[in-house]
Amino acid sequence: MRAPPIQITLTACVLVFLTIAFVLLQPSKPNLHWQSQEAAIHAAHEPDVGGHVIMGKLGNETIKAELGRSTWKLLHTMTARFPLEPTSEERTALKQWITLLSRLYPCGECAEHFQVLLKQYPPQTSSRDAASQWACAVHNKVNERLEKPMFDCSLVADMYQCGCDEEEGSEEVGLI
Ligand SMILES: Cc1cc2nc3c(=O)[nH]c(=O)nc-3n(C[C@H](O)[C@H](O)[C@H](O)COP(=O)(O)OP(=O)(O)OC[C@H]3O[C@@H](n4cnc5c(N)ncnc54)[C@H](O)[C@@H]3O)c2cc1C
Ligand SMILES: *[C@@H]1O[C@H](CO)[C@@H](O)[C@H](O)[C@H]1NC(C)=O
Repeated sequence: MRAPPIQITLTACVLVFLTIAFVLLQPSKPNLHWQSQEAAIHAAHEPDVGGHVIMGKLGNETIKAELGRSTWKLLHTMTARFPLEPTSEERTALKQWITLLSRLYPCGECAEHFQVLLKQYPPQTSSRDAASQWACAVHNKVNERLEKPMFDCSLVADMYQCGCDEEEGSEEVGLI
């Protein structure tokens, strides 16, 4: 078999080069293949709820500790009951709630630390398990800084199950 004339080979090379260059130089669009369209539309309308810490220093150690226990209880119970497979809108709700907590937490100096922690460990919201394990890990980070004992995160599901046996039927309760 004879090789094609040099002109044809060169033309083919130039065409291939131009095609690749054209594809690569396209302005980048949001990738709708790995992100569902619903999620992309939702993300575009998601307000930015981040911002500075609102409350000042909380001086009283007794009140600070009581507030901490109550808040951790709420956070762990909330993540324990979060949907097993949340929608993107539900995921946003949890993420924004946590972000707002880091602004509005009534112990200002705690909130400052918490904001730094959230940057290092962004809230995980892809599933109930991811959210619960994230909350446990973050609580352990606070425990570490306050020189409190570490908690075994394999126990969170049992510890905060909050009577979720009625799981399936409970969806309707709010509508009655
Ligand atoms: C966001 C946030 C930031 C805080 N920052 C500060 C701060 O900067 N300075 C400060 O003095 N206090 C801070 N606190 C309060 C502090 O974390 C404690 O809540 C408080 O000191 C009371 O501690 P405690 O020993 O009673 O147990 P807590 O830490 O309140 O825990 C309550 C119970 O939860 C369980 N538990 C412990 N670890 C875990 C875990 N990893 N996962 C699940 N369950 C667990 C245990 O049964 C424990 O008894 C903060 C609280 C919050 C919510
Ligand atoms: C802190 O608050 C508790 C509960 O309200 C109160 O009993 C205590 O006296 C306060 N401590 C100080 C140092 O003000």
